[in-house]
Amino acid sequence: MLRSRIIGTGSSVPAKVLCNKDFESFVDTTDEWIITRTGIRERHIAENGDCTSTFSYRAALSALEMAGIAADALDLIIVGTISPDMPMPSVACFVQHMLKANRAAAFDLSAGCTGFLYAMSVADAFIRSGMYKKILVIGAETLSKFTDYQDRTTCVLFGDGAGAVVLAAEQGDRGILSTSLYADGAYADLLLIPGGGSLSPVSQESMENRQHYIKMDGNKVFKVAVKSLEEAALAALAQNNLTGKDIDLLVSHQANVRIIDAIAKRLKLPPEKVFMNIERYGNTSAASIPIALDEANRQHRIKKNDLILLDAFGAGLTWGSALIRW
Ligand code: UT7
Repeated sequence: MLRSRIIGTGSSVPAKVLCNKDFESFVDTTDEWIITRTGIRERHIAENGDCTSTFSYRAALSALEMAGIAADALDLIIVGTISPDMPMPSVACFVQHMLKANRAAAFDLSAGCTGFLYAMSVADAFIRSGMYKKILVIGAETLSKFTDYQDRTTCVLFGDGAGAVVLAAEQGDRGILSTSLYADGAYADLLLIPGGGSLSPVSQESMENRQHYIKMDGNKVFKVAVKSLEEAALAALAQNNLTGKDIDLLVSHQANVRIIDAIAKRLKLPPEKVFMNIERYGNTSAASIPIALDEANRQHRIKKNDLILLDAFGAGLTWGSALIRW
């Protein structure tokens, strides 16, 4: 059977780190509140003009090196992001040029924190259709540029960075077994950046109302996230005639340690089968799964033929899951 196999992973985060204590000096919060409610201790923040394409490029180089292929072997580059360098052109086109991936088509995909899963699912469909053989899929964000550092309910959560995978068409049982994608636009106003688009273009008024920053009703998002992620995970397992016992590692979107714990409990997964790095990166949105996947891979937490469950949830609202035979 023709499948998409991950033949390389990579990631990149900026060097600058903001610790929980740093926030105590400019918003009404505490290290204790942040760590107990979210599991986050520190996050990496862009500086010196670095932006989404910078981290994407570095993550891509590392994934290509592991894959052992040259950039001009790529047929397509997809970047899942909600914080592109600019509204146009796409981050994927900047990365295509930086890599000199001259044969590759390139586009961005917007699905909030589910962006990487959506992008990987689209790439998988291209590969299984026979249209493309090698695809670079990136999840990348510079959410610090869209974060309101006067709003304690959101500013402590987000971090910057990128993760990348190289998918290759291969015959056999290993690779992406299935992906399941979901959306419910009725929940759009729970998590959004209301200003700066065609509805409310940048103006003096929109700037004064801080409309170009992330707004989130975190508690409502939390409740929908737990229920939806459970459903997505169970649907993926059922579709493949598998159960929670078959999973070797859960690599979840890193938004809140309590959400990941709830899913792990529902699937009866012991802690050693749950990958977590939220403590060090915070919520990096579309970058969080590929950064976690790259770390798990490089730490040898994933072995050949392991069954890996990915799940993510984000603005849209969107959510989804993927099962991979490594
Ligand atoms: O990745 C995309 C999808 N996003 C998510 O999955 C995020 C899901 N949501 C969450 O992770 C959690 O809802 C948060 C971490 C965002 C918030 O945790 P919570 O336990 O849901 O807190 P809450 O929003 O119910 O707020 C509880 C209290 C409030 O104070 P009052 O009204 O009870 O006096 C907040 O104002 O905590 C207050 N609060 C804070 N206090 C100290 C909110 N943020 C902070 C803060 N420091 N940073």
